[in-house]
Amino acid sequence: MTARTAAAVSALTAVAVAVVGLASPAHAADPVLRDLAAAKGKYYGTAIPAGRLTGTHGSVAAAQFDSLTAENEMKWGSVEPTRGSFNWTGADQIMNFAAANGQKVRGHTLVWHSQMPNWLANGSFGNDELRTIMTDHVTTQTARYKGRIDQWDVVNEAFNEDGTLRASKFYTQLGESYIADAFRAARAADPAAKLYINDYNTDATGAKSNGLYSLVQRLKAQGVPIDGVGFQTHLIIGQVPSTFQANLQRFADLGLDVAITELDIRMTLPTTDAKLAQQKADFKAVTNVCLAVARCKGVTVWGFSDAVSWVPDVFPGQGAATPYNEGYQPKPAYYGIAEALGWSGDSGGENPGPTGTCAVTYAVQSQWSSGFTAGVTVRNTGSAPINSWTLKWSWPAGQSVTSAWNATVTQSGTQATAVNASHNAAIPAGGSATFGFNGTWNGSNTAPSAFTLNGTACTTA
Ligand code: G3I
Repeated sequence: MTARTAAAVSALTAVAVAVVGLASPAHAADPVLRDLAAAKGKYYGTAIPAGRLTGTHGSVAAAQFDSLTAENEMKWGSVEPTRGSFNWTGADQIMNFAAANGQKVRGHTLVWHSQMPNWLANGSFGNDELRTIMTDHVTTQTARYKGRIDQWDVVNEAFNEDGTLRASKFYTQLGESYIADAFRAARAADPAAKLYINDYNTDATGAKSNGLYSLVQRLKAQGVPIDGVGFQTHLIIGQVPSTFQANLQRFADLGLDVAITELDIRMTLPTTDAKLAQQKADFKAVTNVCLAVARCKGVTVWGFSDAVSWVPDVFPGQGAATPYNEGYQPKPAYYGIAEALGWSGDSGGENPGPTGTCAVTYAVQSQWSSGFTAGVTVRNTGSAPINSWTLKWSWPAGQSVTSAWNATVTQSGTQATAVNASHNAAIPAGGSATFGFNGTWNGSNTAPSAFTLNGTACTTA
């Protein structure tokens, strides 16, 4: 056993201890994805926010994955919020965590139309000045982490769905040459990093990936230092494209590396066993695509736990897009990845946690002109204890939570999310937890009709 494997095993043990008491905790024999992938000559990575490097999230990230991508902390808006003034705090934290855990880092991302700092997005610059701003930024960031980045997403999401180049600030002012210039600046500052162009909805053959294919052909013909193409692979269950492998292979045949860079596979909530089984097949199929293409370097999931995923914020009513549930229990998808990577162990039934084992009572306790107070009781009707919980619901009439007690309640659009307080995190079988909040209403104050606990539908009383 290597020192790194020993560290991973000990981290896994810590995780197993952390989730003890859940219906189906990580099993002693659960596979280690990073080791399985390494045995196949690939890496298996995850995106992670700097704020999640500790606790169970950090332990699982270290134990299971051998590549990290900063979910937001290396984006231009994060590192240079004010022109010429850099904040590397979050990016450095992720770099240091990766180094401590023997993980590669995918740098994400240098030039992107989104998450630009306001001074750049809203500023007016002449073409020469904008080009200099861009290449200076690329140079500064790649130089800072010189020799420590495995792959850089130099240019992100440059394409429209029809395969034409997106009218970003850079393209509109500088034309296609901004892409070549960004790659040249990155190569000059960090010759060791593999330089990627990265995009979404390019997994299948079709107009968008054809546009990308033509561009990289042109870049190669011009001698631009591009090494790879990243396929984000944000999918919906049951929709892994049939042309995925052939598409990756045609890019590889241009003499480029390829990588699956932001894999998640979402579903309409709540989860069901059938949807989770489909998701398992899909994660397995995507992993197999990378295994089948020699120049596919590895797979990165865009978050590994349903507790931390961008999906529900952007696609209301959808989620559960990652391999672990909100309670950090492996889902069938996790075992699908492991099986693709050659694992043939016992998944212990693949029950991802309390399924149909919760009942919620919601009551408006008082109501006045525009406000109200409500109480919520969450009952564990299963046979196994729950040791942490996240309750979600959707407001039917535009209500909004203003303050809460005995839980932390946040709201995004009509979606409300309550996370346990430390004192009521554990709910024994047959037990319950209560919390309350004040909210605002207007027109009607209809009660929510459906709740999910750790991603699973509850009955309502
Ligand atoms: O940090 C602020 C916080 O201070 C503020 O209170 C809060 C209010 O909304 O916003 C916070 O910033 C959010 C940030 O994530 C950090 O949580 C932004 O609003 C939110 O827009 C941002 O979303 C990120 C998104 O990129 C931005 O486009 C997601 O976390 C991140 O997962 C997502 O990642 C992208 C890849 O970079 C590119 N490919 C698609 C992928 C998914 O959208």
